[in-house]
Amino acid sequence: ISSTWSAGRSGATPCPRANGPERVTEKAHDAIVIGAGAAGLMAAITAAQRGLRVLVVDHANKVGKKILMSGGGRCNFTNTGTTPAQYLSANPHFCKSALARYTPWHFIELVERHRIAYHEKELGQLFCDESSKLIVKMLLDECATAGVEVRTQCTIERVEHLDDGSFRLHTAQGRLVTPSLVIASGGLSIPSMGASGFGYTLAKQFGHEVLPTRAGLVPLTLTGKHAERLQDLAGVSLPVEARCNDTSFRNFMLVTHRGISGPSILQVSSYWQPGDDLRLDLLPGIDAEAQLREWQATRRDAELKTLLAEVLPKRFAQRLCEHWIASKPLRQYTPPELRGIADLLSSWPLIASGTEGYRTAEVTLGGVDSDGLSSTTMMSRHVPGLYFIGEVVDVTGWLGGYNFQWAWASGHAAGTAL
Ligand code: FDA
Repeated sequence: ISSTWSAGRSGATPCPRANGPERVTEKAHDAIVIGAGAAGLMAAITAAQRGLRVLVVDHANKVGKKILMSGGGRCNFTNTGTTPAQYLSANPHFCKSALARYTPWHFIELVERHRIAYHEKELGQLFCDESSKLIVKMLLDECATAGVEVRTQCTIERVEHLDDGSFRLHTAQGRLVTPSLVIASGGLSIPSMGASGFGYTLAKQFGHEVLPTRAGLVPLTLTGKHAERLQDLAGVSLPVEARCNDTSFRNFMLVTHRGISGPSILQVSSYWQPGDDLRLDLLPGIDAEAQLREWQATRRDAELKTLLAEVLPKRFAQRLCEHWIASKPLRQYTPPELRGIADLLSSWPLIASGTEGYRTAEVTLGGVDSDGLSSTTMMSRHVPGLYFIGEVVDVTGWLGGYNFQWAWASGHAAGTAL
């Protein structure tokens, strides 16, 4: 029995349920994409526009769930400043080719063609003015125009590699056969949104190396005295420069009930592992020692905690002086004492105990080793016809639209090559 499903204007169609024995759906597809997220939809659209018959399958009940929840519901869909330097990967060169061939401007052109209003928030980050739903609608409209079939609620039980080089997918609803299989099943972050380790398991099945995975762009947790001393400041936010492993990010930090978050901390979390030295410059852009000396010269009788409250949130300044710095009138500090305080303010050692993990992480670091893939086509070097794109690959961007840009670019690279 074979049936046809297509992505109509209303979106994707649920997989029909099998009645009785396993339904055999040997309808010819030039390519099947597993995962109807950012990367998978882009690959499907690109390939279908070239005339290929493409099917996208997803186990979730709707497509693009992460797009929908991204950017606080407004989807930070790209970053105009994208360069390979904003990506973490065991091979930092791997992402270059795809990013160079599908740039933020290509995606912006698509967004503008669909008349989606957008704005730059900061640092080249582009967000929808209205809703990330418009990005999903745009992708589904492109699927419909190009003739891509999209099936949701389609669970893949196993994938076989046949003697003729094609792939047979056993789904809960039937079997599918294709000469080209694209794995776009994403990473492990936010399991409640449909994230699964499917892509990694499949990669291993086909002889690919999978580099250790861990949560990235994730809040850090604190325990012990740091937690005790900061917990009740939850909600306090301040600009900092967070530094770890020779990388630093200047932006806001937010104290949370469990630890610390905010853009600077999310960014640095991708470079941090338990035991690594994490430092915060609490007065970024200010020469702390010069500032303290100036206060000592001009406001000799003022207490340090009063003066710090002028450059830091008041409660945070008070807490620093309760536990880390002895506050007294400025005139009473010796030069070495002032130097010590300046060092602490510009390089505050914060001992994080861990991360909040995949439950809240925006991305998964690590994944399918890019050494096993072609950087121009994303095709497996071991198994012709098998492709890996998007977050499942060991390429992870910074916060700020870079991860979607990688999804679009790697999806486009595969879609062009299929
Ligand atoms: P993605 O996860 O989008 O899609 C994978 C698809 O595969 C899903 O639809 C899933 O259901 C499906 N799937 C998984 N296992 C399957 C299986 N076994 N069988 C069938 N289907 C399966 N990035 C950015 O650039 N700007 C932003 O604003 C944000 N904001 C943001 C917010 C939050 C809360 C999160 C969690 C993440 C972000 N990101 C982001 C990161 C961004 O969402 C992410 O990098 C991309 O969605 C990755 O795209 P992929 O297509 O690779 O995976």
